[in-house]
Amino acid sequence: MLILGIESSCDDTAAAVLEDNVILSNVLTSQDQIHTKFGGVVPELASRKHLQAIHPMVVAALSEAGKQLADIQLIAATRGPGLIGSLLVGYSYSKALSYVSKIPFVGVDHMAGHILSIFLSRNKPSFPYIALIVSGGTSAIYLATSYNDFQLLGRTRDDAAGEAFDKIAKLLGLPYPGGPQVARMAANGDPQTIHFPRAWLDANSLDFSFSGVKTAVLNHVNRCRQQEIPPNIEDICASFQEAVAEVLVEKTISAARQNHINTIVVGGGVSANLRLRDLFAARCATEDLLFYAPEPIYCTDNAAMIALSGYHTYNHSGPISLDEDVYSRSQLG
Ligand code: KG4
Repeated sequence: MLILGIESSCDDTAAAVLEDNVILSNVLTSQDQIHTKFGGVVPELASRKHLQAIHPMVVAALSEAGKQLADIQLIAATRGPGLIGSLLVGYSYSKALSYVSKIPFVGVDHMAGHILSIFLSRNKPSFPYIALIVSGGTSAIYLATSYNDFQLLGRTRDDAAGEAFDKIAKLLGLPYPGGPQVARMAANGDPQTIHFPRAWLDANSLDFSFSGVKTAVLNHVNRCRQQEIPPNIEDICASFQEAVAEVLVEKTISAARQNHINTIVVGGGVSANLRLRDLFAARCATEDLLFYAPEPIYCTDNAAMIALSGYHTYNHSGPISLDEDVYSRSQLG
């Protein structure tokens, strides 16, 4: 089956064509340059830019795949979670395309896309697995038992991990999106110099909280400034990254142990972080767990994962009504 996937949940406009689970094209235009001067995504600007980009992206995806719209057998678009204005652009465009071209349509939960993005990579896991999804909008742990069954085991009680990276970057004067910048600085820093707190929460809790570590970094920077000592940005980034990575890794391993699962999969923009991947690989090796991470281009937002997830949603439950609307919070249980 030929599937056209469309993604516009935040600040990337993306389109992809898949033949079942094989990628024929996967294109994306990022709005980073527009939002960087504001230190974060401006929703109104994001929607306007999606409007300009959505049609050219679909044309590019079809052309790169060597296909016409008439060849497409299913259209899949991100329905939520995300910024409502951004989602509405991609979702309404896709519904209109489905209506005029009489191609079946499915709405896809963005989180399901991240949970399944590992199947776009060369090394594919078997079900069941524990999925840690860490992005700018959310941080959550799921038990995935099939392409369509995901059980939420834990989620952040405040900031998402990516949001914490972005806010720390802003505080330190690094450009948006902050995650890759913090990671770049951290590569030259010593993670042992500053001990930032790890929020383990209640015993056995699989929830996260990143607001404490964010405040601890702010307090550290303020203390340095009061004492007129220039803050060591590289050490701060390395110590912050270590605190976040340690909690993400240990809670995900705990989820695997609590549910008697031997496979861990990561997804979402923060899972592109090399220190996080290294720590996972090392801890999973000692714990005798299998660890899978998608290639970095499939960690961040992309339309290939939406097309893939749409394909499985369609095979499982058929098309969705064009009357259905977008939503801002994930509907995965
Ligand atoms: O999944 P994604 O592309 O978009 C959504 O939020 O849905 O994730 C973007 C987030 C941003 O917060 C960005 O700073 C973070 O992922 N990120 C990283 C890295 N690359 C992207 N965070 C830490 N280390 C990275 N290498």
